[in-house]
Amino acid sequence: MKRLAVFVSGGGTNLQRIAEYFAPNPEVEVACVVSNNKDAYANQRAKNLGIPLIMIDRQRFNDKEFSDELKSLNIDLIVLAGFLWLIPQHLIEAFPNKIINIHPALLPKYGGKGFYGHHVHEAVVAAHEKESGITIHYVNEHYDSGNIIFQAKVALSEKDTPDDVAAKIHILEQENFPLVIEKLLFDK
Ligand code: GAR
Repeated sequence: MKRLAVFVSGGGTNLQRIAEYFAPNPEVEVACVVSNNKDAYANQRAKNLGIPLIMIDRQRFNDKEFSDELKSLNIDLIVLAGFLWLIPQHLIEAFPNKIINIHPALLPKYGGKGFYGHHVHEAVVAAHEKESGITIHYVNEHYDSGNIIFQAKVALSEKDTPDDVAAKIHILEQENFPLVIEKLLFDK
């Protein structure tokens, strides 16, 4: 049995997709959802999906005891799915190469602090990019700069608004994120 911890801050569409994708698979379980935002719709999704929800504040997150807590849940892979806080060193050390993030652009472009969600798509449109995409990467102590595992691209048209770009990226995320997670869990 492989056990995932999914970290969220927002809407939770990736969480929903991951949970539904693995639901028929007896070898994978979303063991917990970790949320830093009491208003995140992802929290409601976790409840609806019957997944234990762990709420964190900065203090709990930055304390090494939080790593111990996740270790005691036998987590195999931590998946950041729209989670917006920097990951503390103790967690990176406790889960080496076992924390991944999805970013809604083709890193290294449009990454780093402040580049999240809609801000990314607005910057992509403002720069008249001909394409955008998603990047799934390992997490280190800096925003959006760990080794890249997977990227997928989509063509943009001159007329695309940030909302249009977001819709295209959403499709790429829904298609690819669970498959990349599955590969990481079973291909090594
Ligand atoms: C996703 O598009 C994800 O790539 C992005 O936030 C969205 C979360 O959506 N992540 C970042 O921008 C991280 N820098 P969701 O809450 O509906 O899954």
